[in-house]
Amino acid sequence: MRSYKTTMVDDVELLPRQDREAALADAGYNVFELASDAVAVDLLTDSGTGTMSNDQWAAMMRGDEAYAGSSSFSDLVDAVADVMGFEHIVPAHQGRGAENVLYGALVDEGDTVLNNAHFDTTRAHVAANGADPVDCPVDGARDPDSDDPFKGDFSIEAARRVVDDVGAENVPAVVLTVTNNSMAGQPVSVENTREVAAFADDIDATFVVDACRFAENAHFVRQREPEFEDDTVADIAREQLSYADACVMSGKKDGLVNAGGFVGLREQGDLFEACRQRGILYEGFSTYGGMSGRDMAAFAVGLREAVEPPYVAERVGQVQRLAGMLDDRGVPVYQPAGGHAVYVDANAALPHLPRDEYPGQAFVCELYLEGGVRGVELGRFAFPGTERRDLVRLALPRRTYGPDHLEHVADTAAAVCERSDDVTGYEIVDEPEMEELRHFSARLEPLQ
Ligand code: F0G
Repeated sequence: MRSYKTTMVDDVELLPRQDREAALADAGYNVFELASDAVAVDLLTDSGTGTMSNDQWAAMMRGDEAYAGSSSFSDLVDAVADVMGFEHIVPAHQGRGAENVLYGALVDEGDTVLNNAHFDTTRAHVAANGADPVDCPVDGARDPDSDDPFKGDFSIEAARRVVDDVGAENVPAVVLTVTNNSMAGQPVSVENTREVAAFADDIDATFVVDACRFAENAHFVRQREPEFEDDTVADIAREQLSYADACVMSGKKDGLVNAGGFVGLREQGDLFEACRQRGILYEGFSTYGGMSGRDMAAFAVGLREAVEPPYVAERVGQVQRLAGMLDDRGVPVYQPAGGHAVYVDANAALPHLPRDEYPGQAFVCELYLEGGVRGVELGRFAFPGTERRDLVRLALPRRTYGPDHLEHVADTAAAVCERSDDVTGYEIVDEPEMEELRHFSARLEPLQ
C-alpha cells in the first residue's frame, strides 16, 4: 500500500485517435512540440516532479521573497548541508543553470571533461565552453541484458586511456552522474565513487557529482552493495556525496520541486567565488539564483523528504513494477530497470527499421498514436553520431500516476510491438544548429 493518499486531482483525457494523429503531425512528429492537454499519460520526463506534499505546499506559503538574505534560502542551505553535506551553495533556476555556472568557471577551451555519461545539457555546456565531453561508461553499460547491479559506474580504465592521450593538465573535471540518466538510469556504487575520487585526486582534477537523482541511487546502493545493507538511504547518500569536491543539482528531480537547482561546494575558495560571480551574472543574486522564495522553501522540504523511508522505496518500486508489466507483455526493456524510468529497446522492438530511420523516434510516435502516451527517444536522434542503442525512455514523474496508468502504458507499448511490422521509420526534415540539442526542436516526417 502506498504511504500517501491523493488530495488534489488533475484531469486526464485520452483524445480520439484522429485528433492525436493531427496533433502529432502539427508537432512535426516531435513530442516535445505537443501540448500537454493532448497527452493522456505523460512520461516525457521525471523532471519538475509532478506532485508535491502538503508540507511542501505549506512551506511555500511561508516563502520569503526578499531579493537578498531570504530566510527561504537559509532553509535551503541548511537542508543541503544536512542531507547532502555541502556547506556552500550557489543557487540556480534549475540544473542546467548550475551547469552553466560551474562548467563556465571550471573549464577552458581545448580541455577534456570525463563523465560516466554526460546528460544532454551537461554535454552541451561542456562543449559550449570549448571543451570535449568524453563518456567513460563501464563495459556492459550498453548491454540491455546484463544483470550487473551497477551498470552506471565510471570506467577508470577508459578514463586513464583518455588522460594518457590528452594529458592530465587538460582534464579539469571528472564528473559522476548518479544515477546515470544517459545509461538507462543505472546506479553507481559507492565503491566506484571512491575509486573515481582517488582517480580525480591523482590527476589533480575537480571531482563533481551530478547529484540530480542522488536519493534513488542511494536506494539501489542499499539494495545491491552488501557493505550498506543495514544503512539508511539518508546515510548512504551523505556517504556517497562525501567524496565529491562539488555537485551540480537539479531540484526538479530528487529535490521534489517544480523548479530550482544549485552548485554545491565544500569551501569558499576561488572556485566558489568564481561560481558566485557567474551565478549573479546569469542566474540572479546569490541568495535566490532565479528561484522564487516559494521554490526554495519547497525545495528545502523536498530534499529532506527524498531520503525519508518509505518515499524512495515506493518511487523506485513503481518504476520496477512498470518494467515488470512491460516485460510480461513481451515489450523488450533494458534490464535491470533504472531508478526514474524504464527504457524500451526500440532496436529489438522494431528490428526491421534501419538505425538511420530512427526506430526509437518511430516507437515514441507510435506510443502516442496508440494510447496518448508520451515518452522520449534517447538514442541516435537525441545523441547524434553515437553508436548507442535506440532506447525510448518512459520516465515516471514522482508521486503522480497510479497502477491503472501503468497498465495503460504497458498495454499501449504491447499493442505497438504486436503490429511492429506496420511501423515506418522517420527522416529529419529540419534541425537546429546545435547538434547536442537536436531532439528538443527538430522536425521529422514519416517515411513511406
Ligand atoms: N543532469 C542530469 C543527469 C539530468 O538528468 C538533467 C535533467 C540535468 C542535469 C539538467 O537539469 O533539467 O534542471 O536543467 N534531466 C531532465 C530529464 C530534463 O528529462 O532527464 P535541469
